[in-house]
Amino acid sequence: MSGFVEKPEPIQVPGLVHLHTGKVRELYQNEAGDLVMVASDRISAYDWVLPTEIPDKGRVLTQLSLWWFDQLADLVPDHVLSTGLPPGAPADWEGRALVCKSLRMVPVECVARGYLTGSGLAEYQQTRTVCGLALPEGLVDGSELPAPIFTPATKAEVGEHDENVSYEEVARQVGADTAAALRQATLAVYSRARDIARDRGVVLADTKFEFGFAGADGDDLVLGDEVLTPDSSRFWPADQWQPGRAQPSFDKQFVRDWLTSAESGWDRKSEQPPPPLPRQVVDATRAKYVEAYERLTGLTWS
Ligand SMILES: Nc1ncnc2c1ncn2[C@@H]1O[C@H](COP(=O)(O)OP(=O)(O)O)[C@@H](O)[C@H]1O
Ligand SMILES: [Mg+2]
Repeated sequence: MSGFVEKPEPIQVPGLVHLHTGKVRELYQNEAGDLVMVASDRISAYDWVLPTEIPDKGRVLTQLSLWWFDQLADLVPDHVLSTGLPPGAPADWEGRALVCKSLRMVPVECVARGYLTGSGLAEYQQTRTVCGLALPEGLVDGSELPAPIFTPATKAEVGEHDENVSYEEVARQVGADTAAALRQATLAVYSRARDIARDRGVVLADTKFEFGFAGADGDDLVLGDEVLTPDSSRFWPADQWQPGRAQPSFDKQFVRDWLTSAESGWDRKSEQPPPPLPRQVVDATRAKYVEAYERLTGLTWS
């Protein structure tokens, strides 16, 4: 079992048509036909959207994405049109709503990995490959790869796991030209971001991008969704990086640790939805998101 513990009721705003409730974001269309993306404070873990929100999370992730789009502007066009609040929107949307180009999304999760962990590590341990790409012997949890790799996945519905696929499978699904463009853009953006993060004492282990095409017949890739946030990336404090064990991270670690601890009373394998998070887990998690924002951007969160 998985999904929303409590499915949220979307806020209705005159002039906006509600399109979709994602795990974290609400999507609307404005009268110009553009997309209004509103990042909530929802948090997901173990394929569940939890019943407890993390205050400011949606704002932190939106502002961090915007900062990254600026850093990447010379590499790839992005979908952001405006950070202005749509007329009639609740004041609470300030800082978390973005007006974006409505893209025809390519149905591929474009993952770049510079380090081995997670589902990449699991595949490597079975076959010495990740998404079918052969890797050298002797790599362990957290090892840096000889060079970053493109390890695409198919996008799953809420509550389902994304599934890693080979590059050849992506090329079959979206065409060879688009597959090549996705790989090139994903690796270029990852490499830029990895270097920026490294300068700030943060290891960017891996990250996921979503691209789309603008306009009915546009064929230039545009970077959409959120970028290089703790929800779409694994960030590790560089001074604690130590291959051969699980790395501490800048995100949901407190949430995952608490949910799997005896204290939560929750059994991941059960059919039961996870319980609400206690106050100290919420506060510690909020602080981690803010810390990631401040470390990466060099700005103070206010
Ligand atoms: N510019 C865009 N045009 C159309 N769809 C987009 C754009 N940017 C992001 N999306 C889609 O919006 C949704 C974002 O909401 P999110 O809460 O992340 O949902 P999900 O549960 O699918 O991850 C995703 O489905 C993503 O593919
Ligand atoms: Mg998403």
